[in-house]
Amino acid sequence: HEADAYRTDLMTITRYVLNEQSRNPEARGDLTILLSHIVLGCKFVASAVNKGEEQKKLDVLSNEVFVKALVSSGRTCVLVSEEDEEATFVDPALRGKYCVCFDPLDGSSNIDCGVSIGTIFGIYMIKDKENVTLEDVLQPGKNMVAAGYCMYGSSCTLVLSTGNGVNGFTLDPSLGEFILTHPDIKIPEKGKIYSVNEGNAKNWDEPTAKFVEKCKFPKDGSSPKSLRYIGSMVADVHRTLLYGGVFLYPADKKSPNGKLRVLYEVFPMSFLMEQAGGQSFTGKERALDLVPTKIHERSPIFLGSFDDVEEIKGLYAAQA
Ligand code: AHG
Ligand code: MN
Ligand code: MN
Ligand code: MN
Repeated sequence: HEADAYRTDLMTITRYVLNEQSRNPEARGDLTILLSHIVLGCKFVASAVNKGEEQKKLDVLSNEVFVKALVSSGRTCVLVSEEDEEATFVDPALRGKYCVCFDPLDGSSNIDCGVSIGTIFGIYMIKDKENVTLEDVLQPGKNMVAAGYCMYGSSCTLVLSTGNGVNGFTLDPSLGEFILTHPDIKIPEKGKIYSVNEGNAKNWDEPTAKFVEKCKFPKDGSSPKSLRYIGSMVADVHRTLLYGGVFLYPADKKSPNGKLRVLYEVFPMSFLMEQAGGQSFTGKERALDLVPTKIHERSPIFLGSFDDVEEIKGLYAAQA
């Protein structure tokens, strides 16, 4: 049986990434090594979350662990973290060719009540690691070589794309290994769920307001969509990826660029969505086409099932 084969032929995340990289004759295992250091950071946070660390401590602790793991991998030259105002340029002696942008602990307002939180990361290749500058980090999301997130929930799940589809791995705590449990994730073409902070509705722009109105009062005879909103992007996007539907953090009058950060929230999640057959849109363009001008830049975001995002694009086009 196929199910039994899975149980005994363990596809660890390291084995998976090695397999993927072996299809590229020029690959020398650098991405595998880099990812194994990210995985170590995720295991550390998973274990700290289970011990019930306080919010502030956990934020700072997770960031420190990721920065140190990434630097010591010897495969990075520059790091951008949500927790650090400035980018970190790695000591020349330890430099490798990758740039990693990450949110070490996303959904931090949910820590103290035990609701799912996560880590998000996006990886770029830097042409000239010896002379890397901030400019090199400000690339469009479509240039990413890999992206993923780890969700610390009822189980610990790591979802990864190296540009060849999306795969989900679940941490087996007794093995200490992430094992492939969700091979080749594809998002349903259309979904029955929308996910947004409706408390901001009074400040929404017209296309967003119209879309949400259509979710609740469809005029084409279809059923209304259900609302789900956790307030942890990782958890809301994870559900969207598996069940379909749309996650939105739109612009509003108070926050004309929305809330979520381009480099380590919008881009990695958009990369995963596209790789799973969905779409991601900023209200103006394909999210992965955006070229950020500063490392902590924000952007409105609409991502999820292909048809649902298509509808949102239609509403923005009609307004323009
Ligand atoms: P962070 O905890 O890294 O600062 O990010 C929180 C983000 C994201 O996880 C979530 O989608 C969003 O904030 C929720 O914001 P609202 O509380 O405004 O809905
Ligand atoms: Mn975040
Ligand atoms: Mn964060
Ligand atoms: Mn934060």
